[in-house]
Amino acid sequence: MAERVFSATAVACSNIAFIKYWGNRQDRLRLPANGSISMNLAGLETRTQVRFVPGAARDRLVIDGQEVEGEGLRRVTAFLDIVRAWAGCEWRAEVISRNTFPSGVGIASSASAFAALALAASRALGLSLSERELSRLARRGSGSACRSVPGGFVEWQMGSGDSDSFAFSLAPADHWALADCIALISTQHKEVGSTEGHRLAWSSPLQEARVADAPRRLEQCRRAILARDFQALAQVAELDSDLMHAVMMTSAPPLLYWQPATVAVMHQVRAWRRQGWPVFYTIDAGPNVHVICPQEIHAQVQAGLRAVEGVRDVLLAFPGGAARWVESGDEDG
Ligand code: DP6
Repeated sequence: MAERVFSATAVACSNIAFIKYWGNRQDRLRLPANGSISMNLAGLETRTQVRFVPGAARDRLVIDGQEVEGEGLRRVTAFLDIVRAWAGCEWRAEVISRNTFPSGVGIASSASAFAALALAASRALGLSLSERELSRLARRGSGSACRSVPGGFVEWQMGSGDSDSFAFSLAPADHWALADCIALISTQHKEVGSTEGHRLAWSSPLQEARVADAPRRLEQCRRAILARDFQALAQVAELDSDLMHAVMMTSAPPLLYWQPATVAVMHQVRAWRRQGWPVFYTIDAGPNVHVICPQEIHAQVQAGLRAVEGVRDVLLAFPGGAARWVESGDEDG
């Protein structure tokens, strides 16, 4: 075991899934119904400092300068309890976290947050975990977080249990110069979060068919990434996103994350493709649309997206690397 320093800081990227994780076989351990494949997003990052404090009565969580209580804190405490049990330590911790992407715009932060937290907390308690163990640990906090531990283009193999359900890199970030142009669309209603959504997935009569066909889509996606075959990736990723949203919309109660501008962007992307632009869309549990294209056309795609009515802003991200430790400074919180 490495020396315990009791404080560590880590940075992890968010990721966008081309083959989606939706529904668990086992909720508590976050064992997914199917494998998934994603690309890390450089620049859309969470930086987290964890300090274990002898004698503190409870954990403390500060995100973007705001003290977090309630469900957010409970989720972090439950996660830290796993790390504490692994390390044989009962000290409570102070967790100071900052996102580099704007909060409240519906960009998922749980993936980057729990990947950074897994690294920082395990390091602070002197556990030297392999990438695989870190990915398994991050998975317990948020399923998609296990994919933010390795770098670049990443596959989460569903595995048969806790020990073999982890993510690994299919190719490094510089393997393929793709861009993710994220069309931010105004949200009027509070959404149902993914944790609740995963539970509802099985109430859709389409979920079993989606899951049964997943190995075929995973294979197509893997091949497309390794061969840098944009058309093949576009076809399978768009299909996979549409399948997940079909499950969401047919769950009981139904989840409809799309806004009118979401659909407008989907039509626009298909129109561009008919004109020969290499672009495709993929949508997570929210109204924003991730429009993927080769980096050389990102400026034209971004400008085109800005012209779609209802698009508030467009963020840009390139493929990102693995979660990493950084020098601990004094984080504000
Ligand atoms: C639609 O990983 O956010 O983004 O494990 O409950 O935190 P929890 O769920 P989460 O689910 C991600 C859902 C998705 C698809 C994906 O990223 O694969």
